[in-house]
Amino acid sequence: MSEVRIGSGVRHELWEHVRRLFPGAARAGWVIDPRMFAAWEAADGGLPDDPEAVDVTRVVEALPGHGEALKTREVLALVQDALIELRRDEPLIAMGGGATTDVAGFAAATLRRGMRWIAMPTTVVGMVDAAIGGKTGINHPRGKNLLGAFHEPALVLIDVDFLKTLDARDVTAGTAEVYKVGRLGDAALRERLADGCPPVDDAEAWIELVKRAVAVKRTLVEGDLLDLGQRRLLNYGHTVGHALETLLGNERMRHGEAIAIGMQVAIQLAASRDLVDDDAVAGQKRDLEALELPTRIPDDVSTDAVLEGVGLDKKRQADAHHTMVLPTGAAGATVVTDVSETELRSALDATR
Ligand code: GLY
Repeated sequence: MSEVRIGSGVRHELWEHVRRLFPGAARAGWVIDPRMFAAWEAADGGLPDDPEAVDVTRVVEALPGHGEALKTREVLALVQDALIELRRDEPLIAMGGGATTDVAGFAAATLRRGMRWIAMPTTVVGMVDAAIGGKTGINHPRGKNLLGAFHEPALVLIDVDFLKTLDARDVTAGTAEVYKVGRLGDAALRERLADGCPPVDDAEAWIELVKRAVAVKRTLVEGDLLDLGQRRLLNYGHTVGHALETLLGNERMRHGEAIAIGMQVAIQLAASRDLVDDDAVAGQKRDLEALELPTRIPDDVSTDAVLEGVGLDKKRQADAHHTMVLPTGAAGATVVTDVSETELRSALDATR
């Protein structure tokens, strides 16, 4: 698995790690999310200086937009073309949110049949989810993340100072992924979030949250890199969450906000199967609300539209079933493969 380093100010260690992990490197490619770069420069935050001994190709201004807009074949080709001269013993460094590490990591997987790379995530979701576990990729017109590779970075360098570049809404939304892994395997992490999300300048609190969340994710990925077994638990909240994201778009609904609603639908469904009790449903709702996350399907989104979004609509076979992750007991979860339209419909109707 990747080496992971988490702290405040650890971005300045970048080139030391490059020298240690890539001792013969004369060149490096550095793919940086343009929005994060601009916000960081404006805040005069200070990025690690390029070392004189290494010829650094920065790919920043050429990138069109940010977020999901980066996960296209065009951007992949742009990164590949910019960094095609790198040798296999020279690093590709990706700095930005999950979309940046996804596309740059996929470029690393394809260049020279696979180059080692370093991820420097700058968002909550990037730090606790996207950069951990080696999923890289881009979207296809037929769906999200349909093109990609499992290609773990050599190093994930997580500097919580980057959280200061984010909109408050994005930090809040990102805590849904922290809460999610708490529900899956760290009750103390969940309890820490019960009073709400710490301010971004409380580095110690964020280091602790990120360390704990990364530890749970690594445990689930270990032994199941290819996502065929226990790793699938990380999809808690994602069945309905992805449908809401697609229906509403990122401006209206951030990934984490959609996952929060998706988790509330999933726990409602779990209660109807007696996998959890009603207190657990109310407790999770209270926790998510303390994090200022949404817990209800928006009024203008119909249950039919969500069912269609998850592929459980009337156009499918009447006996079609869906796979979902459902929480169990006070902590933990299970993957079930037999969720019917009727069952999901009533859980959706109860989450309004
Ligand atoms: N984001 C879920 C996973 O890495 O498996």
